[in-house]
Amino acid sequence: MHGYPGMTERHEHPWWKSGTVYQVYPRSFQDSDGDGIGDLAGIERRLDHIARLGVDAIWLSPIFPSPMADFGYDVADYCAIHPMFGDLAAFDRLLAAAHARGLKLLLDFVPNHTSDQHPWFVASRSSRTDPKRNWYVWRDPAPDGGPPNNWISDFGGSAWEHDPASGQYYLHAFLRQQPDLNWRNPAVKTAMFDAMRFWFERGVDGFRIDVLWHIVKAADFPDNPANPYWRPGITERDRLIQQHSTDQPEAHAIAAEMRKLADGYGAKGQGRVLIGEIFLPNDRHARWFGTADRPQVHLPFNFQLIENAWEAATLREMIAAYEASLPPHGWPNWVIGSHDAPRIAARIGEAQARVAAMLLLTLRGTPTLYQGDELGIGKVDIPPDRVRDPQELRQPGIGIGRDRSRTPMPWDDTAQAGFSTAEPWLPLNPDWRTRNVAAQERDPASMLTLYRRLLALRRAHPALAVGDFRLLDAADGVLAYERCRGDAVLRVALNLTDAPKPLPFTGAVLLSTLDGARGDTLRANEGIICQ
Ligand code: GLC
Ligand code: MG
Repeated sequence: MHGYPGMTERHEHPWWKSGTVYQVYPRSFQDSDGDGIGDLAGIERRLDHIARLGVDAIWLSPIFPSPMADFGYDVADYCAIHPMFGDLAAFDRLLAAAHARGLKLLLDFVPNHTSDQHPWFVASRSSRTDPKRNWYVWRDPAPDGGPPNNWISDFGGSAWEHDPASGQYYLHAFLRQQPDLNWRNPAVKTAMFDAMRFWFERGVDGFRIDVLWHIVKAADFPDNPANPYWRPGITERDRLIQQHSTDQPEAHAIAAEMRKLADGYGAKGQGRVLIGEIFLPNDRHARWFGTADRPQVHLPFNFQLIENAWEAATLREMIAAYEASLPPHGWPNWVIGSHDAPRIAARIGEAQARVAAMLLLTLRGTPTLYQGDELGIGKVDIPPDRVRDPQELRQPGIGIGRDRSRTPMPWDDTAQAGFSTAEPWLPLNPDWRTRNVAAQERDPASMLTLYRRLLALRRAHPALAVGDFRLLDAADGVLAYERCRGDAVLRVALNLTDAPKPLPFTGAVLLSTLDGARGDTLRANEGIICQ
């Protein structure tokens, strides 16, 4: 790899602190075999896009054998590749090609549940006396024959599925095709840790761990309390507070053991990385860092930029509260899009999506980018006959469909946007003929160019990558802060409104989200970084 300004200082920190993560949704990145679905050889072919963007690591959503009831989050074999995506040889090639470009590669580990087609569950279901029975969560019916308690699946409906053959119910926090594993059974832990070892030994740089805070449930399965704020029209999941079905102390102990396993694969601080998917309020969220001498995950994903209104005062308060909640050994992180969340440009508009890019890449902490956001892909209407997301199919029309952020990457203006030679599994963004990688590469004012500049700046300025953070006073509607390291001070001002605002500081403009910044005022929808 070439050197760049600031390289030495930046590398005093482990890569997962100073670097950035790019999420690839494999079904929708690049198809190489003409089936309309992305695959590993396709990702390998497009690695240069990711490398040129200037990120440090790739996280791949699940690529394992799966009936695809939840598009890979229903795993039928943790130590193999779905034939649709390729095989282990294709994976090894991709890993080597990523490493050759200085990119780390993280996989998606799904510990809470397997597919109902996983051999473990097939055995578990076969009889009450099968040795694998206790690998999953089986309970007798309630006295009236109904489900054992009131728990609701995240995708709607009871979290319990009746199995007529054995007369018991099994638990599924998500689809009934995703039975929950029983992590109180040491045999489950052993088998799942072996799966982690399998990939670590193949050379993967870490895992994003799916719904980590779900993996253990209260031992006596009490009813969950009702959520007083629930009203019709929002997701059924939120009828109840998931007090007894998530965030149990035993899950923290398991996370600490996962960390020990990961740390065993590399020198301190430069080993393999664990990113936990965790949705919780700050105080409970921060506990997933563990303690300094018994750490848990390196990065508990922080989704608060997605969850909060796009409004300067709200974000300011949220950022301050999050920063204040971090333990001394805890490193922050930020996420603005994913395969589950709505597209940022659809939510706040393209002009503000540029400001959001600047925020994501200048806050203190590790940013995770989602594929396609670097092109500013916005609203994609999915015609009813093309809806694939099981969450949308189960609870239609309340705005929780996830297909809208899973549409294929538009690479150029040739047929199917260069994604495939066949009709893609989901429609393309409607403006793909102009909104694609090739077009934006040529355009100095494009979102892609802005992302590249922001990422280059982060690499060039350790103050941005690893510096301290302090909020600054600014006019209403403006979010301002500074990042400092040693003598270097960088200031950022983001105008979250569509009216001009005074710039809260002066200095040489390093980058603006708009053309031709002079550094004396903040134009409508403008973000500025000054030195
Ligand atoms: C996570 C994934 C989501 C999946 C769910 C169940 O939230 O991001 O896509 O449906 O877990 O595995
Ligand atoms: Mg394919």
